[in-house]
Amino acid sequence: MKIAHISDLHIGKDSDPRPLDRFDAFLGLIVQQAPDVLVVSGDLVHVPEDTDAFQTVRERLDLSGLRWLAICGNHDIHRPENASQFDDFFGTTPRVERIDDVDFLLFDSFRDLPTSDRSKEEQSANHMANGRVSQSQYQLMERQLSAPTRVAVVHHHVVPEAGAWVAGEWVDEEASGVMMALWEHKSFLSWCSANDVSLILHGHKHAPADPIEHDGMLILRGSAAYKEEGMARIIDVRGPTVLEVLTF
Ligand SMILES: [Fe+2]
Repeated sequence: MKIAHISDLHIGKDSDPRPLDRFDAFLGLIVQQAPDVLVVSGDLVHVPEDTDAFQTVRERLDLSGLRWLAICGNHDIHRPENASQFDDFFGTTPRVERIDDVDFLLFDSFRDLPTSDRSKEEQSANHMANGRVSQSQYQLMERQLSAPTRVAVVHHHVVPEAGAWVAGEWVDEEASGVMMALWEHKSFLSWCSANDVSLILHGHKHAPADPIEHDGMLILRGSAAYKEEGMARIIDVRGPTVLEVLTF
């Protein structure tokens, strides 16, 4: 199975047409690669109240003719407890979606961290950015797993800062604003490894990063498609192996 991965489209950002232009261009490149499925790992829109942006992304995905899966990022929902139109356009998370012999574990790392558990600074901010995956979400996944090959999709980055894997230990991410790695990321990685996940696709951190191999898994960050250094990847689920890195 061939997977295309793109992340952090931020359609509607500052009324700038360039994120949509870039998304259209990426879709054109991806369609040429004829993947079996396109995975979008969150932050499809920039502002969660922007219904037009949600509509636009959904239309583009459908018009591409590709089979697609999408999860929410912190820009797609205003508050963890709020109802969101994201679900109406792209489906609810968390859930497991099986395609042929591959399970896609579609995590929800934003709504699993309620406002009450967040820092005072984040609670008072107009925009929340941290994320977590809790035990109940793992249990839900475990009940739905059935395929031999498993791909985890989560918005928040699971490695604190790019390449901060030093001497067999994750180095704590530098406190840089609120764009932090997934809380309890070590537990997430351990759970994935124990449940035969071979590929983890994520976004959130906007800078490009090289693939990371960890505990028999390949971890791929989608960077931010709306930025000039953004990219998309084509991945063969066997291995798994990166077949192509799409840039322009
Ligand atoms: Fe994000």
